[in-house]
Amino acid sequence: METLPLYIGGRFVTGADASQDVVNPATGATIARAARATGDETRAAIAAARAAFDSGAWSGATAMRRGQVLMEIARRLRAAADDLARLETENMGKPIVEAEFDVADAAACFEYYGGLATKITGDVNPVPDDALSLTLKEPVGVCGQIIPWNYPLLMAAWKLAPALCAGCTVVLKPAEATPLTAFALARLLQGIEDLPAGAVNIVTGDGPVTGAELAASPDVDKVAFTGSTRTGRAILHAAADSNLKRVTLELGGKSPNIFFADADWASAVEGAVFGVFVNQGEVCSAGSRILVEKSIHAKFVEAIVEKAKTIRLGDPMARETRMGPLVTTAHRERVMGYVAHGQQEGARLVLGGRAPNGALNGGAYLEPTIFDRVEPGMRIAQEEIFGPVVSVIPFDGEREAIEIANATPYGLAGAVWTRDIFRAFRVVKKLRAGVVWVNHMQPTYVEAPWGGMKMSGAGRELGRNGVDNYLEQKQVHVNLNENPVGWY
Ligand code: NAI
Ligand code: MG
Repeated sequence: METLPLYIGGRFVTGADASQDVVNPATGATIARAARATGDETRAAIAAARAAFDSGAWSGATAMRRGQVLMEIARRLRAAADDLARLETENMGKPIVEAEFDVADAAACFEYYGGLATKITGDVNPVPDDALSLTLKEPVGVCGQIIPWNYPLLMAAWKLAPALCAGCTVVLKPAEATPLTAFALARLLQGIEDLPAGAVNIVTGDGPVTGAELAASPDVDKVAFTGSTRTGRAILHAAADSNLKRVTLELGGKSPNIFFADADWASAVEGAVFGVFVNQGEVCSAGSRILVEKSIHAKFVEAIVEKAKTIRLGDPMARETRMGPLVTTAHRERVMGYVAHGQQEGARLVLGGRAPNGALNGGAYLEPTIFDRVEPGMRIAQEEIFGPVVSVIPFDGEREAIEIANATPYGLAGAVWTRDIFRAFRVVKKLRAGVVWVNHMQPTYVEAPWGGMKMSGAGRELGRNGVDNYLEQKQVHVNLNENPVGWY
């Protein structure tokens, strides 16, 4: 069985403690072991990133060259796409057809930021003096990047591509459960001549040890994090207590998917089901609250239950599979805890809620689960479940829909389904969410900003401005007047 190394300073090194089991959640089989980087090993990775940054080998490379390197990474990802998709599915459990989309999206992310590298420009500021006032954009420095397990390779791309585009160097920490594609990526990076050793370092390890070291290190200039709101809070504390490093956070959600009676019926039914069950519901922007207008409520619930019954749950390697196992059995327990809460709170379980028997017994599977007649204040309607569990909440009119939609601490995403363009835009404006879809849910593009309001995070990733998270602005004033100021 393979034991994954650490990737530090351009070399693969054996970790002192390689006791992290890497499990295939579809079968329960241990398929690899990963290192749990110690504090010292994490500091060694930070030192390698520091040295690579301070040498100027990457930040001082021409923008054109940095862009070309990102394009080369994309090319290698595309060339290895089949293997990477299989590895992702084997490690994480998502259907192979979804893993293939993720690899393509990861490559597109490197292509986008590869193209952007030569378009980072500063400003000339119109100051009212005989002077030239400039704003220079410079890389922030060493970046700690901590990512979750739901889109392991894609999250690595979302983090690495803009950081490298800006000229930063990086220590990336994959989630404990899903290190395989990150190391496959490290192997792809290794042969790229113009990417200096230490520009990208990858350390696996426990959040409270390896991740916490990145958040607390005085040698890390910026942390980018995707994961739970609780861990995001811990990272902000660590940043505050160390060097006030820059922090961007992409956190949890409880996104409303809102259906008015005039919505196109077939698209709406499909959108309600896809919006929450894609990627097993392990999606930060999952449409985990279906808000439906009372006049169509009963019929709509019936229709989504029927549609959800058609989801092919099973071996994620099979091309016809549309839902695989959850990432670990421990996570399934957590999700099933919410199913129990929902029943105790008096919501009506109308589909699923059980681990399937038979052939799927060995995996961390959970049936698509729908609760109806959920009260907006119930725990299942307030807390992020991060699994295939959805709460249907009936509403009466636009005002009530918006009121319910906004009544959680989260504000990542939301969607509204209606044929009435006036209403659609009124709802768009009222939703407190960083991403809003009209008559669709989930499409995500590297070309457009991504991130949340309220407790769903701080800052926006992706798009043109995604690179700003990795840039400092330096204001430069050049005096053009040779005479003394003449003040004294
Ligand atoms: P988590 O937020 O604890 O883990 C995400 C990453 O943070 C992992 O790499 C982990 O090792 C790291 N981490 C954990 N503790 C840390 C610390 N003290 N300092 C620095 N890094 C740390 O999320 P977890 O435990 O995997 O899942 C718990 C719940 O979080 C899920 O059920 C879900 O509700 C939510 N979640 C949300 C995600 C999103 O995309 N918004 C992604 C993953 C989880
Ligand atoms: Mg955690």
